[in-house]
Amino acid sequence: MKIIDIDSHEFQTNPWPIYQHLRENDPVHYSDKHKSYFLLKDSHIRKVLLDDKTFTVDHPFRMTKHVFGSTILDMDGESHHRIRRYFSDIFSAKKIDSYANEIIKPVVNDVIDELSKRSDFDFVNDFAFAIPTRVILKVLGLPTDNLAWLRERLLPIILFIEQPKEYITEARKAMDEVIAYILEVASAEAVRNPNSVAAQIVAEEPNGNITSQEILRNILLFITAGTDTSIATICNTMITLLKHPEVMEQVRADDAKLRPAIQETLRWEPPMHFTIRIVTANTELGGTPIPRNSILQLVTASSSRDESKYEEPELYKPFRNDNDNLAFGLGRHKCIGMFLAEREFYEAFQIFFDRIGEIELLHDELPIVEGRILRFPRQLRMKSNFSGS
Ligand code: HEM
Repeated sequence: MKIIDIDSHEFQTNPWPIYQHLRENDPVHYSDKHKSYFLLKDSHIRKVLLDDKTFTVDHPFRMTKHVFGSTILDMDGESHHRIRRYFSDIFSAKKIDSYANEIIKPVVNDVIDELSKRSDFDFVNDFAFAIPTRVILKVLGLPTDNLAWLRERLLPIILFIEQPKEYITEARKAMDEVIAYILEVASAEAVRNPNSVAAQIVAEEPNGNITSQEILRNILLFITAGTDTSIATICNTMITLLKHPEVMEQVRADDAKLRPAIQETLRWEPPMHFTIRIVTANTELGGTPIPRNSILQLVTASSSRDESKYEEPELYKPFRNDNDNLAFGLGRHKCIGMFLAEREFYEAFQIFFDRIGEIELLHDELPIVEGRILRFPRQLRMKSNFSGS
């Protein structure tokens, strides 16, 4: 019997056969090591995500709470509704066109201008990493001129979410420094643009039913969790297209094929494989009793390969018509940054493919997608010529 051990090399490099085995043999799988139930089937995962009374995100020991304080990611009920409503306007679909024109496209073009001065580059660190942090900072009204300093501090915070024991001290120190920095730049922003989100952090009475602390905590969540998932998605889309040259060719010949190719990457090679819920009352799933206070790991990546949901789930087929994947979650906690992230992916690849010539990969073998929680290739070195913007 296969088991899930997120510390194992096998799991971190190729978890798909483990998911398949468990879907068939033990779809509500209890892990003694992780003291959690892992849910592997699409139908069970959807049921849990849509029932926020029996399955909550709110737990005192949740790692994200220890570093960010309470954010919408780990609250339920009225507070979640109130704070999410405040931010939903900033991330709404109707704002995305202006973000695309004023923020995303200029950021992507600037990054490519830099790359075009070099003979070779690393797609992961020089392209994908360069985009989402700048975009989210600009959307929130924060400056982008201390990017290297900021990323250095965001790294231990992200590592803490993956390996809490090892990174707790570094993450707390980094968080204190980032908070001090944001408060300082927010004060300057309040003079320049008093209506921006950043300015509200230092406002005596922020607009709307929210406190400055709540704005600050959630902003910290957006600039960490939101950016690394986006970076990983950009990397996974590129590596998936490189593995499927026939799709790469179609996408490069016709922009309209780009969106389905990205959507299918989110199903086939998602950046995050699970999310967590805590059980509030004794319950059962698929006949397995689950006691109150149990921790559930919802393996959304396994749901994407569930044979009872998708036709030929193991195949990357961008033009399938059954793609209803859970990469951005479902229900009340469905990703608030989804519209922004999707547009960012589209514009990044549209401009990249438009400006790049033939791609020469500088690896003998394609790097693998790997990780404990966030999964992406660590390097993707390539050579090419770019045209002007
Ligand atoms: C602009 C970038 C992004 C931002 C600002 C962002 C922000 C957030 C926030 C604040 C939440 C919590 C929402 C709530 O609980 O009400 C959330 C949820 C979520 N996000 Fe994102 N996100 C971004 C990109 C992404 C990407 C690229 C992915 C993966 C493809 C992703 C996957 C998720 C998932 C799965 C959830 C649901 C978690 C759960 O239900 O437990 N996010 N996101």
